[in-house]
Amino acid sequence: MIEAPRYAELSPPDRILMGPGPSDVHPRVLRAMTTPLIGHLDPAFLRIMDEVQDLLRYALRTRNRWTIPVSGTGSAAMEAAFSNLVRPGDAVLVPSNGYFGLRMAEMVRRAGGSPVEVEAPWGRPLDPDDVRDALARHRPSLFAFVHAETSTGVLQPEVPALAELAHEHGALCLADAVTSLGGVELRVDDWGLDAVYSGGQKCLSCPPGASPLTLAESAMERIRGREQAVRSWYLDLSLLEHYWGDERSYHHTAPITSIYALREALRLVAEEGIEARWARHLRVAGALRAGLETMGLIPHADMAFWLPSLTTVRIPPAVDGKRVARRLLTEHGIEIAGGLGSLAGVVWRIGCMGHSARPGNVLALLSALGSVVADEGGAVDVAAGLAAASTRLAAKTGAPVG
Ligand SMILES: Cc1ncc(COP(=O)(O)O)c(C=O)c1O
Repeated sequence: MIEAPRYAELSPPDRILMGPGPSDVHPRVLRAMTTPLIGHLDPAFLRIMDEVQDLLRYALRTRNRWTIPVSGTGSAAMEAAFSNLVRPGDAVLVPSNGYFGLRMAEMVRRAGGSPVEVEAPWGRPLDPDDVRDALARHRPSLFAFVHAETSTGVLQPEVPALAELAHEHGALCLADAVTSLGGVELRVDDWGLDAVYSGGQKCLSCPPGASPLTLAESAMERIRGREQAVRSWYLDLSLLEHYWGDERSYHHTAPITSIYALREALRLVAEEGIEARWARHLRVAGALRAGLETMGLIPHADMAFWLPSLTTVRIPPAVDGKRVARRLLTEHGIEIAGGLGSLAGVVWRIGCMGHSARPGNVLALLSALGSVVADEGGAVDVAAGLAAASTRLAAKTGAPVG
């Protein structure tokens, strides 16, 4: 006899989400998620789909017709990009400078391609000269890179130059913008990117569930010209085209509530203005970085390629990083994260994304983190850190620190 489990009504603790994602969700997005469902082929829902596509094009700075939310989290949009753009036997150039570059290589393998690497240390961006050499050596059909590496806190600079290099060598250029879309400057068309995917739960401050993907005509041509079917039925864009394209016919049931949420999150982006939103992230995260540095914590990524939406700081040698993060969560209700891969135990990852990127959150985090680190035996000057952050916030400047 299997007894019926009796659990209390859902009541998770209050948290301030300052980790690598998810970020705090705006109340308007939460409200949109309680909107009654309609059918995924209801003419009213088809209009909502058009609106979401339009809003996505605005946030991504693109006119690409093929701009859709993929059902699933960022990895679903990522897998949609790789499984459609990589043909069996294709060489694909991927970066080695972070955790998500490694995931790219794995997805290339599963799509039947061969990943080849352009190398850079974890904590540094790709050097265009190395990309040029790797393109010339391996002649890949696709070059993929991570615009905002969430594992290291590095923002890849010189994106237009990288895209141009890829094109000069006959490759398409694919960018992972999971941690940049809606928080950090990203211009799909002006930068010449053939394909870009992202996620909802970072700088868009939407619950994970429907993830942006945009493809230029160059990428769609490659997909339409494939001789072998995409190995994934669910993520096959030539099939999804029937739902998201003109036909609007059934492929799979759209995650309706997630689409409602994304629509509201994107409406908030459009109301704020995408460039004002980038500036807000720079200002608020700049105060966070200034506060951490002045307090005595050492940033892992150099200022020249610092990623505002995700700051990595080194864990002081005297301190147990996991214990500090746990105390921050249980005693102060603030979430941050430790490092991934080779940075596990070396850094904390502190997010400043979307609705979480607010002055009050930064000051609360600096005060709580500083007091826990000090209590654990770390040498930090919490008051100096708070003063530096407050000064930066009061100056209302988006100019970087350091
Ligand atoms: C840069 C990057 N790419 C891809 C992903 C995968 O997204 P998800 O965890 O939503 O599947 C993440 C998630 O943190 C990420 O930071």
